[in-house]
Amino acid sequence: MATLSFQGPGKFCGVCTPPGDKSISHRAVLFGSLAEGESAYENFLEAEDCLHTLDAMRQMGVEIHHAKGTGKVRIFGKGLRKLSAPKKELYLGNSGTSMRLLLGISAGQRFETVLTGDPSLSSRPMRRVTEPLKKMGAQIKGRENGNFAPLTIRGGKLRGIDFDNKLSSAQVKSALLFAGMYAEGRTIVREAVPSRDHTERFLEATGARFQKVAHHLIIEPTEMLLPLRARIAGDISSAAFFITGAAMIPGSEVTIRDVGLNPTRTGILEVLKRMGAGIETEITQTVPEPMGNIRIRGAKLKGTGITRAEIPSLIDELPVLMVAMALAEGESLVSGAAELRVKETDRIKSMVGNLRALGASIEELPDGSLIRGVETLHGATVESFGDHRTAMSMGVASLATEGVITVRDTDCIATSYPAFMEHFQMLFNR
Ligand code: S3P
Repeated sequence: MATLSFQGPGKFCGVCTPPGDKSISHRAVLFGSLAEGESAYENFLEAEDCLHTLDAMRQMGVEIHHAKGTGKVRIFGKGLRKLSAPKKELYLGNSGTSMRLLLGISAGQRFETVLTGDPSLSSRPMRRVTEPLKKMGAQIKGRENGNFAPLTIRGGKLRGIDFDNKLSSAQVKSALLFAGMYAEGRTIVREAVPSRDHTERFLEATGARFQKVAHHLIIEPTEMLLPLRARIAGDISSAAFFITGAAMIPGSEVTIRDVGLNPTRTGILEVLKRMGAGIETEITQTVPEPMGNIRIRGAKLKGTGITRAEIPSLIDELPVLMVAMALAEGESLVSGAAELRVKETDRIKSMVGNLRALGASIEELPDGSLIRGVETLHGATVESFGDHRTAMSMGVASLATEGVITVRDTDCIATSYPAFMEHFQMLFNR
């Protein structure tokens, strides 16, 4: 089990190009596999989670060329209805996105698919996806009535449903939109608080029978999808570690290049601006996904509140935002974020426990946390709990630490950001 040590204090200075976006990379492989013809992508995220999606599609008979280390993938799509039954179970490691999105696709297939994962993934709730898919007509078996992997799913004759996405989960929404392409009649997904819209953008670009009317997403039976060619934008959720680290340390100055600036993902920038950080963005591309550069200048930050309406736009950035709040002047309150408890680990618990071990003043709430900023943190040994974002957030905390933060169990960083330490060392200055 790997361990990393971060010697603080320090700041971030320089330029960083983050790796390809994880959410978009998963979808690139899935849409490419379901399209008819050759799709080609650059800057595909070569991290464990996305490679599990890629392997799963290969096991369903899709030819995918991937030259390791190049970020280039070519996918020879088989069409929506020509996937083949996998010969063995599909192992998806730590990746919730792979499992939930593949449930939606498997629901449309006439063969049986078995989806499994590591202990963390096997303890994450799947009912949010399996229940509506069952309503559409899929047969799904798994522990606790289809709530936990391993899950066995047999699809076939589906019918459209009208679904209210109360959790504002992009994974749930995406699974139902995939299944909806195979269903009889229309499937409607309602979403009062919008979640990331990458799936919708792919549906539009590949010619699916899809429309968005106000807060309603409507998908109708779709015969075929078109292949695509695109460069995948950098991942703002990976850049978030350097954006936040730079924002919270006066004297830091960082430019993040070619990063995704999809407005359903940029909540972190709004929060950091509100806290007093100097943040400027420049958009260099708008289609298929907004992309550009971000310039960050560090400042002594002020506390702020984050409520439910903002949560989906920064859900994966909350662990590192909690680090910034632990060091901001005054009080910060995160609420409406109960979803954090069912991520790769319970991120409210992991972050509250770890920040407290470093001397932060932080209280755990059922749906978030209450934080009173302190001037500096102190060194300690903390756990990642097998969660990549908890591990990387602890590295960022070291910028304001007199001493060493040792993070145990850091192999998990490879699930989303294998180059994290390289980029950390490149930007780190005393
Ligand atoms: C993701 C959606 C989010 C996010 C996850 C990736 C996606 O999960 O936390 O890391 O790619 O759709 P939920 O949609 O379940 O909130």
